Amino acid sequence: MKESKQILAVKLKHLQDMEGTSMDLDLWTEKYRPPSLSGIIGQESVIDSLKKFVENKVVPHCLFTGPPGTSKTTAAMAMARDFFGDSFERNFMELNASDERGIDVVRNQIKNFARTMPSGNAPFKILVLDEADHLTSDAQHALRRTMESYAASCRMVLICNYSSRIIPPIQSRCAIFRFSKLSEDDISGRLKFVAKKENVDLAPTGIEAILYLTEGDMRAALNLLQAASSTGEKVTDEVVYSISGRANPESVRQMLIDAHKGRYVDSLDSLRDLIYRQGVSPIDLVKQMHREVDSLGLEPHKRMVILEHTAEIEFRVGEGANGEIQLASLLARIGTGSDSVE
Ligand SMILES: Nc1ncnc2c1ncn2[C@@H]1O[C@H](COP(=O)(O)OP(=O)(O)O)[C@@H](O)[C@H]1O
Ligand SMILES: [Mg+2]
Repeated sequence: MKESKQILAVKLKHLQDMEGTSMDLDLWTEKYRPPSLSGIIGQESVIDSLKKFVENKVVPHCLFTGPPGTSKTTAAMAMARDFFGDSFERNFMELNASDERGIDVVRNQIKNFARTMPSGNAPFKILVLDEADHLTSDAQHALRRTMESYAASCRMVLICNYSSRIIPPIQSRCAIFRFSKLSEDDISGRLKFVAKKENVDLAPTGIEAILYLTEGDMRAALNLLQAASSTGEKVTDEVVYSISGRANPESVRQMLIDAHKGRYVDSLDSLRDLIYRQGVSPIDLVKQMHREVDSLGLEPHKRMVILEHTAEIEFRVGEGANGEIQLASLLARIGTGSDSVE
């Protein structure tokens, strides 16, 4: 009896541990995905139009385009949920075209869903086709016919990064909504909100770093916050840069300034420190250098030369050339012509 109690205790502990880990593993991007249009931050004009569709019970076929992490999938699902209410599950389907890109997915799954009547009092169903630009051209043509034939029973929301990859006949049948990158205020507001909910100590420098690295992508920002907070430390710029394997822009800027002012040895030391001690990959570093070139205040001609050389270096590093050698040559080029050699 005693033994079995002990076993039970061990099991319980194990379960609690499991629960702990599975909860920690929960992705904050999913946990904090706004379920309703009213919870979506930013993208005001798009969201206003979608709210009108819901209010008026009229939803056209839609095409959502824009960069990753800018609320496209969230908005499509939220619109459907607001629209259907309780009958959401029965009248909504989401497919991801990057899994199956061929014509079969249109002929089978999409057609089968689209042609059956909506359930409950819903006037039509809604099908969200994520990453629709991954569909082959044949599949897109078949999709166009399906959209037309079953428009009465099913409205489609197609989502893609680039609308130019969607065939024109589909584009012309859709209301097109362009999602832009989220503003720094919107992202930092959301980061603070989630940090508070999750009891994360988020320093202002940590927010700055996340904004710098994620450039308007809310998904990337939340993922970075979650990864940085899993260290258990206060989330500062240092933690964020080290967990993302990227350089602090300050140190990149200083390295470029050193090169520009002729302090070539210092700038080479920084380069080695970044690559070998901090583990920043040369390809990321060249991109960051490109971003910081402006801060040097170079005269226009030299700036052009440096930007051109940067592009060349990025290509070479991408092709597998030695990162240290390539980036050192870029620093040398930046220093060329500077008179104050130390
Ligand atoms: N406007 C927003 N307000 C609040 N959270 C957002 C917003 N946009 C994106 N997110 C968060 O980022 C995640 C990714 O957004 P998603 O809509 O899937 O981006 P995508 O544009 O790539 O489809 C969501 O799960 C949600 O947590
Ligand atoms: Mg998406």
